[in-house]
Amino acid sequence: MRVLYFIQNHLFSGEGKDYTYTIFMFYNVITIDGPVGVGKSAVAGNLAKMLGWRHIDTGAMYRAVTLSAMRRNIDLNDAEELTAIARTCNINLVYNCNNLIVYLDGEDVTEAIRDPEVSRNTSPVSETTGVREEMVALQRRLGMQGLSIMEGRDIGTVVFPDAFWKFYLDASLDERTHRRVLQLKSTGKFADFNETGEAIRQRDERDRSRSYGPLRVAPDAIIIDTTCLTEEEVIRLLLTFVRTGINGESTIRDFR
Ligand code: DC
Repeated sequence: MRVLYFIQNHLFSGEGKDYTYTIFMFYNVITIDGPVGVGKSAVAGNLAKMLGWRHIDTGAMYRAVTLSAMRRNIDLNDAEELTAIARTCNINLVYNCNNLIVYLDGEDVTEAIRDPEVSRNTSPVSETTGVREEMVALQRRLGMQGLSIMEGRDIGTVVFPDAFWKFYLDASLDERTHRRVLQLKSTGKFADFNETGEAIRQRDERDRSRSYGPLRVAPDAIIIDTTCLTEEEVIRLLLTFVRTGINGESTIRDFR
């Protein structure tokens, strides 16, 4: 069935497609998209570990570009300058025992990119079309290097629209706020529930309303509402889809 689906949709459809690229990416990238704080990174990281695939956290890439711009005191509304930084900075994602280490121009910035100011500024920076074009090109190059689980906002819609497995993780705003507050608490930081929820809501809104690469559900994505699920249950669900070869084009579309 998968072969038939592939032939029908990829070899005999449209004109001017790069078939080598399409064939390679079809089964080699699993995309996971979803809003802020839904737990994409933890799920993608653990799934990658279980399958022996690479985990690519694209949010970390946008954060690294933002940090680079902030350190150079660049006006975060200057699209040209931001695009130049995205084009020239050197971002490396290295996994050490399943822990992501992010290098920016050779420096370990794993901690620095999680600073609240960087989180706030990443929203406007990631709205810049030139920055997104540079990041999408880099993400495609990374995806071409091997079996990858790539997570972000536009992976199934823009970066790898031809991927066979596309997942969209969702959860209620309250649940995502609760998870974020708990996560901060575990690192010794106190966060007000209402303020945290409002910050998440605002970032969601910006992610959904930008013109290029907005947060959207790909038409053939499997939507999983994780509100009442544990991380282990979500991973088990994704593993089941991958191991049984079921994707969003199959009959079971929506696991809400
Ligand atoms: O997933 P995260 O919170 O680390 O993402 C940081 C920011 O980057 C967030 O504001 C959304 C943005 N982002 C994006 O625009 N596109 C992606 N593919 C990944 C993240």
